[in-house]
Formats: sequence, structure tokens, C-alpha cells
Amino acid sequence: MKKAQLNFCKGLCLSLFLSVTSLQAIAQEDAETAHIAVKNPADLSHQEANKIYDSLKAVLDERYSISNMQLISGYQNWKRYNSAPYLSATHGQRFVNNYANELGRDYGKLKNGQTYPPGTIFAKDTITVTSEGKTFPGAMFVMEKLEAGRNPKTADWRYVMVIPDGTVFGDTIGEEPELVDYCHTCHVGRASRDYVFYVPKDYRLAQ
Ligand code: HEC
Repeated sequence: MKKAQLNFCKGLCLSLFLSVTSLQAIAQEDAETAHIAVKNPADLSHQEANKIYDSLKAVLDERYSISNMQLISGYQNWKRYNSAPYLSATHGQRFVNNYANELGRDYGKLKNGQTYPPGTIFAKDTITVTSEGKTFPGAMFVMEKLEAGRNPKTADWRYVMVIPDGTVFGDTIGEEPELVDYCHTCHVGRASRDYVFYVPKDYRLAQ
């Protein structure tokens, strides 16, 4: 097979795989009873989004802990930097939150060229709101800053995704690393701030 064909095939396989996985996640999510019916999912108020999140928080924590990922254990006790869950197109059209552990306290305050200390963890838990207004637990997205030199390919950031049944979908230094390669490919756009973005303006906490 020619190289171009091979690359095309790789891309196709990956996207097929990703859609199969999201179908599995949806099947899994469908097994849940819907908690709160949302009238207009595209236009959730901060208050409504928080209400849905509050009703699913404990379930999320329970599901993610099945993965035995120590790094996110107790993440809901860390500081949450967004005022309400917001729709994130870059994380699969899910409603997301951004938590940082104590070492990540400079989240959003980092100056150009500064870096986060090893041990910094950002945890992004999510909920899915379907177009019919049903709400379900969503995947967890994690970034962990590793010791210097541990993984130069991703600027010493580890990326992990855990799906809502507690399965680790991919881990750049563990299971199925290639499935989460795309995380860094996008986060590289924020290289000047150590590959970390921030909460969209309307959802930042009042200073
Ligand atoms: C197409 C671009 C893109 C991709 C792909 C992407 N992200 Fe992000 N990520 C962002 C943006 C933009 C933000 C901040 C805004 C938001 O939350 O949507 C963000 C925020 C985050 C945060 C909170 C810290 C921060 O940077 O603000 C974590 C944790 C995170 N992403 C993990 C992941 C993981 C894990 C993957 C892969 C499974 C991933 N991301 C894939 C663009 C991306």
C-alpha cells in the first residue's frame, strides 16, 4: 500500500474506532435513567447546568473511581475553576468542568514561558446532554505534569481519558497511548503557557 493510502487508512481507522467507542459510551449512558430532562440543551443557563451537575456528581466520582486511577481520586475536593459546566466542542460536545489540584493553583495565571510543577493535575469531568434533553455521565479528561524528561514527546504532560463505565480509554504513558495522542496535538497550540488553556471568559470565577 502506498504511504498516502496507509495514512488515510490510519486516520479512517482511528475515527471509526472513536465513533465506535462513543457509541459504546452512549449505550452505556443509555442504560442510566435520565436524571433531569432539559428543555433546550443548547441553551442551558449557569443555574440549570449546575443543577444537572450536582445531581450527577456523586455518580461521576463513583464511575471514574472504577478505573483505579489514583491521580483523580478525590478530585471533587480540589478547586473547580469554572462557575458552571459549559459546552466544550473540543471535548466531544460535552458539558465540562475544570478542576486543578493544589500544585495547579496558578491555573489561568501562568505567564508566558512559565511552567507548572511536576505533580500538577487538571481533571475535567463531563456530562452529556442529548438533543432530547436527557443527561448522562460523560468521560473524564486528565492532564498530569510528569517529572522533567519523563515523556519528551508530550512535553512531560500525561493525558488520560476515562469513559463513564470506568474504563481507561487511553493513557499516554499507559494503556492504549495512541488513542490519546490527539490530545497533545491540540494542546500544543498553547505551548507558550505550558500547553494548558483556561476556562472560557463567561465561566471564570469572579476574582
Ligand atoms: C481540538 C483541541 C483539543 C483537543 C483535541 C483536546 N483538548 Fe483539552 N482543552 C482544549 C481547550 C480549548 C481547553 C480549554 C477550554 C475547554 O475546556 O473547552 C482544554 C482544556 C483541557 C483541560 C483543562 C486544562 C486546560 O488546558 O485548560 C484538560 C484536563 C484537558 N483539556 C484534557 C484533554 C485530554 C485528556 C484530551 C484528549 C483525550 C484533550 N484535552 C483533547 C482543547 C483540546
